[in-house]
Amino acid sequence: MASSVRIAPSILSADFARLGEEVRAIDEAGCDWVHIDVMDGHFVPNITIGPMVVKALRPHTTKPMDVHLMISPVDTYLDAFAAAGADILTVHPEAGPHIHRTVQHIKSLGKLAGVVLNPGTPAKMLDYLIDDIDLVLVMSVNPGFGGQSFITSQLRKIEAIRKMIDKSGRDIRLQVDGGIDFETAPQAIAAGADVLVAGTATFKGGPSAYADNIRRLRGG
Ligand code: DX5
Ligand code: ZN
Repeated sequence: MASSVRIAPSILSADFARLGEEVRAIDEAGCDWVHIDVMDGHFVPNITIGPMVVKALRPHTTKPMDVHLMISPVDTYLDAFAAAGADILTVHPEAGPHIHRTVQHIKSLGKLAGVVLNPGTPAKMLDYLIDDIDLVLVMSVNPGFGGQSFITSQLRKIEAIRKMIDKSGRDIRLQVDGGIDFETAPQAIAAGADVLVAGTATFKGGPSAYADNIRRLRGG
């Protein structure tokens, strides 16, 4: 089991009319990273945030900005998100065409590189990437929307990837995203996840509830 669990609230569930204030509120409430879901209406059936919004949010927190790119093509936008202030850039192999090249591109920008696996994508996708990446993200819902139910088969994938990471001896975070709440968070942690993305469960109840929500997700 992972020793210290990081909480990365997904701002997809924040009040978009007050995004700067919302980011400050989760920062003050004790989150570890700020998870930003970028969707293009093509790779996933929803449209959200671009580099201009990431840049606008940058002054509102000193915590790592964890940018989950659900866009295709993705390579053409990496420089813009890096320049906007992203710290971690996470990409789907299916966004194509060459995931290894995309990872190299992210590293050349001086950013942490993450690879994200959809629920139907097997762990073996990582076999020839594990030596080059800083983060693996296991999707526990199909990407596109917040508020979906946790797909329990992904716990086995988390367990398999935890073994793969431990065997590699490298410093790689294992993140899970989708349907994380007070019930599923401990399950994901027990399976070996060490970063939990949570949108609905963080923002539920408004700003006065954020600190308590984050503490409970962490298992405190
Ligand atoms: C889904 C996004 C998630 C989503 C999580 O495509 O990647 O980050 O916002 O939302 P909840 O925590 O509500 O399932
Ligand atoms: Zn996400």
